[in-house]
Amino acid sequence: MTDSLEGLRIAVTGATSGIGESLVRRLAERGAAVLVHGRDAARVHEICARLSATGATARAFVADLASLSAVAQLGRDLTANGSLDVLVNNAGVGFGADRALREISADGLELRFAVNFLAPFLLTERLTSHGLPTRAVVNVSSIGQAPIDRADLNSERSYDGILAYRRSKLALITDSFQRAASDPTRAYLTVHPGTFLATKMVREANITPEGSAESGAEAVMHVIERALDGQTGQYFDRSQPAEALPNASDPEAQHWLRAQALRLTSPFA
Ligand SMILES: NC(=O)c1ccc[n+]([C@@H]2O[C@H](COP(=O)([O-])OP(=O)(O)OC[C@H]3O[C@@H](n4cnc5c(N)ncnc54)[C@H](OP(=O)(O)O)[C@@H]3O)[C@@H](O)[C@H]2O)c1
Repeated sequence: MTDSLEGLRIAVTGATSGIGESLVRRLAERGAAVLVHGRDAARVHEICARLSATGATARAFVADLASLSAVAQLGRDLTANGSLDVLVNNAGVGFGADRALREISADGLELRFAVNFLAPFLLTERLTSHGLPTRAVVNVSSIGQAPIDRADLNSERSYDGILAYRRSKLALITDSFQRAASDPTRAYLTVHPGTFLATKMVREANITPEGSAESGAEAVMHVIERALDGQTGQYFDRSQPAEALPNASDPEAQHWLRAQALRLTSPFA
């Protein structure tokens, strides 16, 4: 167990609400310098000001992760900012208010696949190619997982918001396992923070919450600690190591997914 996070620089995407907002507060309370990402500039600066007022070091980063060029720019901004110990890919889009509505990203890609998978993929790719983060990448995934339909990567033939969400989250775990297997220089862990926690995406989907955003942040914090301890290549259900769907551990599936992600993101890298 690593108690103080003094001296560590930790970036959290999607830190303007829910789990991410609670997490940056906790990280700052433990002494980490936090790099606060969000898409709403005013909100990001408000959170940074609040953290700074407590004596913490907080820096603002603004990017809409539904745009791969903005993700690439975020990678450049974080790299230019100096050292980085841990990246927490937390930002995500939930099931949506209308589950039958197929939304698309700025690049014409299905929104959940783009924001929940391709954005953290590209950000991680950009940063690791510059030797960052030095210690760990923690991906906030979900217990809701489904294999990608290889014949319909962009969910054009049929659409369901829950299925699209689950596919994006298994893709994130698959990529994390692949990176852990091929990159021993830093830790890669994924975490399901809790089920139907009281956050914006759960409320938007008209689901009655079963837990708090704070409990989700606590689970992510636990997994950050495990990553700092050097654990890698695992998926956690809250604080417990757990099994992800077998697809995530299949080297062929990992290889295929990485090839697709590189194909889609390389024009922006
Ligand atoms: N809540 C749960 O029960 C639950 C369960 C399993 C997994 N998770 C995962 O936990 C993570 C955090 O979600 P949450 O529950 O805390 O929900 P949330 O309150 O809706 O937070 C999601 C965060 O992602 C950001 N985001 C969404 N789209 C973005 C975009 N295009 N560009 C930049 N940022 C974007 C949001 O920014 P805005 O504030 O600007 O909207 C927000 O900060 C997600 O990855 C989610 O899938 C949550």
